[in-house]
Amino acid sequence: MAALVEINHLTKRFAFITAVDDISFGVDKGEVLGFLGPNGAGKSTTMKMITGFLAPDGGDVRIGGVDIGAQSVAVKRRIGYLPEGAPLYPDMTPAAFLGFVGAVRGFRGEELRKRIRDTVEKVQLASVLEQPIGTLSKGFKRRVGIAQAILHDPEVLILDEPTDGLDPNQKHEVRALIRNMSKDKAIILSTHILEEVDAVCNRVIIVADGKIVADGTPSQLEARSPRHNAVALMVSDADQGDVRQQLERLQGVASVECVGRDGGVHCTVYPTSGNSILAAVSGVARERAWTVEELHVQRGRLDDVFRAITAKG
Ligand SMILES: Nc1ncnc2c1ncn2[C@@H]1O[C@H](COP(=O)(O)OP(=O)(O)O)[C@@H](O)[C@H]1O
Ligand SMILES: [Mg+2]
Repeated sequence: MAALVEINHLTKRFAFITAVDDISFGVDKGEVLGFLGPNGAGKSTTMKMITGFLAPDGGDVRIGGVDIGAQSVAVKRRIGYLPEGAPLYPDMTPAAFLGFVGAVRGFRGEELRKRIRDTVEKVQLASVLEQPIGTLSKGFKRRVGIAQAILHDPEVLILDEPTDGLDPNQKHEVRALIRNMSKDKAIILSTHILEEVDAVCNRVIIVADGKIVADGTPSQLEARSPRHNAVALMVSDADQGDVRQQLERLQGVASVECVGRDGGVHCTVYPTSGNSILAAVSGVARERAWTVEELHVQRGRLDDVFRAITAKG
């Protein structure tokens, strides 16, 4: 069956560049897709096309099988969108703004009041409802932006850099909110922050220069890191040269990096192609009677993968 959100060969050119270059993917309910890439990768442009704010030069976007270009109004009802920087009306209060957005969405009377009440509770805006938006902190402004995106309880939520510019506590709150909404929605969020992907996403697409360069779960991508399954070892009372030599001789070991620090030898032992080498490393440590202070397997780091994939050659 086709995914709830289908993006087929999406392409957008501006004067001198192809900002989005033949991008295709699908997203279903329950998925929180992290759209990850350096500045200028084409994330915002892709999101504007998914939400129907920008017409593509090629390709199409289907929500529940319906082309957003052909049936824009009906399909847009199924989408909530937090644009980059979340433009808001500074003189309006959140109460007035949400009333306005709800009315535009076609809600009236008790239905409108109930939706506003539920949304305000969900994003915890009650304390600032009557204060002009322009006077609110960044965290509250972002919550107002999220509130307008979810007021009509859309199945598809497109969030462009939802935590950008927030302090660590505010980031944490917004991420928790996204996680709580993820069960019954298809969510696409863009970010250039790697920790965000681990914190909220169950799938990641990395884009660079308008193209998809990786697509998988965070752990699948971590498995592509050179550090994946590498073993970190720290021994005290040992000779650095000897430790390195012993480790390099082990089967399945590709290379060894050692530094002497704080009276100990710190080594990272890299396996050949993701092999498990923990048993071999702990075996040699026992055999040589090293005093092991630390020994653990590394998961691999998403930022290594990200840098390797998106680095300009
Ligand atoms: N309206 C526009 N006119 C011309 N170039 C644009 C326009 N919008 C975006 N771009 C360019 O398209 C590329 C992708 O931009 P954008 O989608 O905003 O990237 P990201 O959100 O990943 O940082 C950038 O090189 C940007 O300068
Ligand atoms: Mg952007």
